[in-house]
Amino acid sequence: MSDALLDAALAARAQAFAPFSKFRVGAALEDADGRIHTGCNVENATYGLTVCAERVAVLKAISEGARKFRRIAVAADTDVLTPPCGACRQILWEFCGDVEIVLVNPRGKTESYRLKELFPRPFDASFI
Ligand code: THU
Repeated sequence: MSDALLDAALAARAQAFAPFSKFRVGAALEDADGRIHTGCNVENATYGLTVCAERVAVLKAISEGARKFRRIAVAADTDVLTPPCGACRQILWEFCGDVEIVLVNPRGKTESYRLKELFPRPFDASFI
């Protein structure tokens, strides 16, 4: 089945700036109005300042005024599909809630999760 969100994540992956790891990731976040916000990983010579594709997509969307989200697709070239890292799970929880996460690779393999499955006991503003 063709899905514009998965296609957008795969296309965003082509823009990855990953000269250090060579591990290219793309993300595409669908907001409540159906708009798609894309991101790719952007690495840094310090390594630690690298930003993952998912966080780039979320921060771009927030900076464009989007506040409610339906799904995020994450694309990487692995056979065991690549899930969001812990830092991205935290950011996704705070900005997108229990969003659907669709993992995809260039050969069309996909898997779907809710964020709560991957991040079951989140810390957030409700504790503060
Ligand atoms: N990376 C992402 O962009 N998203 C993920 O879900 C996993 C990891 C990036 C960070 C770094 O540029 C490279 O992949 C290797 O860790």
